[in-house]
Amino acid sequence: MSVTRLKGEYDLVLYGLGVMGENFIRNFARNGRRVIGVNRTVAVTERFAREVAQEEIADRVGTAETLAEACRHLKSPGGAVLAMIKANDPVVEPWGPIDDLFFKGSVARYGDDDRRNVPALVDIVPEGTVIIDAANSHPHSTKRRCQEFARRGILFIGTGVSGGSEGALKGPSIMPGGSREAYDVVGDMLEAAAARAEGACCTYVGDNEAGHFVKNVHNGIEYGIMQAISEVYYGLQQVVGLDYEGLHEVFAEMTGGSHGGYLMEISTAALAMKDAATGRPVLDVILDRAGQKGTGKWTSQMAFDLGVPVPTIAAALQARIMSSFKAARVAASERLERHTSGAFDAAERDQLLWAAADALYGAMVAAYDQGFWMLREASGAEPEQNNGLYDFTLDLAEVARIWKGGCIIRSALLDPIREAYLTDPELPSLLLAPYFKQAVGCARFQKNWRYWVCTMVSQGLPCDAIAASLNYLDTYRTARLPANMIQAQRDTFGEHGFERVDREGKGFHLEPA
Ligand SMILES: NC(=O)c1ccc[n+]([C@@H]2O[C@H](COP(=O)([O-])OP(=O)(O)OC[C@H]3O[C@@H](n4cnc5c(N)ncnc54)[C@H](OP(=O)(O)O)[C@@H]3O)[C@@H](O)[C@H]2O)c1
Repeated sequence: MSVTRLKGEYDLVLYGLGVMGENFIRNFARNGRRVIGVNRTVAVTERFAREVAQEEIADRVGTAETLAEACRHLKSPGGAVLAMIKANDPVVEPWGPIDDLFFKGSVARYGDDDRRNVPALVDIVPEGTVIIDAANSHPHSTKRRCQEFARRGILFIGTGVSGGSEGALKGPSIMPGGSREAYDVVGDMLEAAAARAEGACCTYVGDNEAGHFVKNVHNGIEYGIMQAISEVYYGLQQVVGLDYEGLHEVFAEMTGGSHGGYLMEISTAALAMKDAATGRPVLDVILDRAGQKGTGKWTSQMAFDLGVPVPTIAAALQARIMSSFKAARVAASERLERHTSGAFDAAERDQLLWAAADALYGAMVAAYDQGFWMLREASGAEPEQNNGLYDFTLDLAEVARIWKGGCIIRSALLDPIREAYLTDPELPSLLLAPYFKQAVGCARFQKNWRYWVCTMVSQGLPCDAIAASLNYLDTYRTARLPANMIQAQRDTFGEHGFERVDREGKGFHLEPA
């Protein structure tokens, strides 16, 4: 059965009818665009065609069995093809489905025994079409694709999209990078589909792989904040003994104030949620094994390649990895006893509640700061400054602004972050911006943060992201670190040389008196 239902000319072909793709189509159509949906597995297109036929946008949405058919109905020039399919990990699989789709063809494998001859997108798009990759692609893949499209004279955009399926439907945060000329063609369409916060939460973020770099850093920050929130709920439950009602109350208060944001909102809701099947609190029935699709790993790898510290993000990634060893942890829990350094004093309950709020706030600030440090380091640098890894210039205040709406990491912190970069685009760290310095530098705040970490450590409970964040603060604000010992060690075994505090130059060696 054919699913091709096309009438007239369309503005956009959207390939990939997963949760993101199909909702993005609805969003574009609600904004007056005519869109064609296509998917690798035709049964999915059939289902989508049936559903959308019942919706008010039906006359603006078509479906096609193949991309070639869809492209024949694309307006030219000025039409666009947006791919929203599974991205590949360039280390594990240097050439993936998106490259097949764009350059090689035969992408549509309907199972091994039903492989159709699908042409490459570059061979079938009409003149003047903009190709958009809206998957969570690795920036290095996007950089390579930008070069290939430029060589072929095809306009290309690699864009990050944040907001999950609901965001795709109602307005996500969109982070397009790539060809400026391409953005001039499709920018209005993308901006109309985006969330709103002081304008559209979509702007041209920069050349080449800028969009996907910004999105990956966004995901790293997301990892850090999610982990810190989880640690606070767990600590209050395990140490103070709060039940879900009590936890919900504490979280609701934080969410209504300076900690507010989407991740806090959904966590607060999860604390109150009951499982439909059993009536038990939903968090009690969810297995403690965190999933991941790899973007936190990519962010950490990119940070290490850039030489930027991301302890909060890396700790969050490692905590997810540790959680995946469920069977090993259960076995170890039966063999390795937990010895605490004393019982928690119930009289200190209120102090720990204050400490929880400040520790969480500190970790959130640290996660954003590390992300923005990455953005700053990658942006506008001469090739020798960032190892030739990236080639774009970012406006950090604008990045903060487009994350304020529709975005998974939207939060109350993004206003002062934006303000900080508007005031000083060269700000070396958010910790030094007056707004954050006032909080993080305050004695009571720091004591609370330390008290939280000390309590978790003394009670034998993990607090990876919050402790890593505190170490980040302490390392950053320490004028003299023990790195002198590292240098002495390196010179001893490898004659690597060191710099001295009392003389200019490099390459000094240990010369014991
Ligand atoms: N989910 C989110 O919250 C979110 C947020 C931002 C960005 N993203 C990104 O958006 C993209 C889509 O995400 P999603 O959650 O909607 O779904 P997904 O599960 O990541 O991907 C499903 C889509 O990819 C297609 N696909 C998979 N392998 C393919 C291949 N080899 N050739 C052609 N098509 C292939 C599937 O087609 P079939 O139906 O034929 O399998 C389906 O349309 C991903 O890159 C994801 O990382 C997701």
